[in-house]
Amino acid sequence: MKEMKIETPVLQYALSELPEGYRPLVQAAIHATDQAYAPYSHFQVGAALLLENDRIVTGSNQENAAYPSGLCAERVALFHAGHQYPDTTVLAIAIAAVYQGKQTDRISPCGACRQVLLETEERQRKPIKILFCNRDSVWIVEGATALLPLCFGSTDLSAPAATEETNG
Ligand code: THU
Repeated sequence: MKEMKIETPVLQYALSELPEGYRPLVQAAIHATDQAYAPYSHFQVGAALLLENDRIVTGSNQENAAYPSGLCAERVALFHAGHQYPDTTVLAIAIAAVYQGKQTDRISPCGACRQVLLETEERQRKPIKILFCNRDSVWIVEGATALLPLCFGSTDLSAPAATEETNG
């Protein structure tokens, strides 16, 4: 038996020390929370993507009375960018949330959004920086694979079939 540890490096910036280039993206994510349609959770999430053509594409969570029909802010933004700018690399995504009128201090993309981020990275062959916008700080993770260890991605579909032995 061997134990394996998987760690996620997180760069933590106080708002005052956040590099200038990221500020508009963080602001866009916070503003996008205003467009959330969240009558059920009252949890308003905003996401902002920085594309390599310098455009910022935003999204917000869109809920539905049939709960699973709704969609998270991150996927609204990613799918919109995938449609509108299919050949343009996504460099970074900033995510912010507001609950009961206040920006939350921790917002973290759900598993399904991490999976979509991963596929976007695979498609463009470049990692996407993920910015978690807290009240007084911004945390940056260098790419979706760091958030989704032991992930299942498109290349796993072409892996050779498991033998009976490995299947147990
Ligand atoms: N939500 C997001 O939009 N992004 C996240 O990263 C986490 C959760 C939404 C889904 C739902 O509309 C509400 O927040 C509560 O889960």
